[in-house]
Amino acid sequence: MECTVWNKVIIFLLFQVPDVALCSEQDTGGWGLDSSLADEGSCNIDIRDATTITHTQFLEEYAYTKPVILRGLTDNTKFRFLCSKPSLLREYRDKTVRLSTANTHSYRKVDVRFEEFVTSLLTPQSEDTLGSDTLYFFGDNNFTEWHSLFEKYNAPPYSLPHTSPAYSFGIAGPGTGVPFHWHGPGYSEVIYGRKRWLLYPPDQAPEFHPNHTTLHWISHSYPNLEKHNTPLECTIRPGEVLYFPDRWWHATLNLDTSVFISTFLG
Ligand SMILES: *[C@@H]1O[C@H](CO)[C@@H](O)[C@H](O)[C@H]1NC(C)=O
Ligand SMILES: *[C@@H]1O[C@H](CO)[C@@H](O)[C@H](O)[C@H]1NC(C)=O
Repeated sequence: MECTVWNKVIIFLLFQVPDVALCSEQDTGGWGLDSSLADEGSCNIDIRDATTITHTQFLEEYAYTKPVILRGLTDNTKFRFLCSKPSLLREYRDKTVRLSTANTHSYRKVDVRFEEFVTSLLTPQSEDTLGSDTLYFFGDNNFTEWHSLFEKYNAPPYSLPHTSPAYSFGIAGPGTGVPFHWHGPGYSEVIYGRKRWLLYPPDQAPEFHPNHTTLHWISHSYPNLEKHNTPLECTIRPGEVLYFPDRWWHATLNLDTSVFISTFLG
């Protein structure tokens, strides 16, 4: 959306979002962009515009076979405004959020005030930090306290038969991410920031250290891969949704401070 004065006025009247949350810094919602992680990698995953793919085509071509990025599938303009930094701080400042360590098995959990997480833990991560020493806010959401926000989210409409959707919401600093792991199928959407994805089919397990970060894997393991062993990958931005099929290995890297939501189809 263009950042004209009139847009600001209209958005304010519709949603009563404070002016600072609107249209600042290329609409990063006050979360900012990071320039140090410029490497978005290549993109060898199909990108389909929502207007050119039907639910049936999605089921036939991707749901059980390979990842796809769907563009323009839903309009989450309102949800995005509610996820701006000032808006979330105003609403959730004193709430407790549960953080997990960002390693493959993410076992350690830590509870902190949301404001403390945003002001002191959302910092850029260096390559040497271990995933097991990084605290990551993703999942473990209190759906009672966050209900009024999540109900504004328009989930991707293409369902899978015999599954029901469950949300995981998160916010993470530049350089953070989750190392390789797998689970059931689902969607991941970034609301603010860019997120780089790396994926492998279920029968092609990548080599990785479970406590090292994705950032470490990209700079130390990736360059040594033989061509036939390189991942499927792409960097997604707001307005794009990545679909991952059942049991596909995947790792993520947040290039900016990212606000994101996954819809797991279990
Ligand atoms: C979720 O928030 C509600 C309301 O603040 C609280 O009563 C409940 O204990 C929380 N649930 C968990 C699992 O923390
Ligand atoms: C990963 O880190 C955990 C917690 O620090 C440790 O217990 C575990 O042994 C580490 N795993 C490996 C393979 O180094």
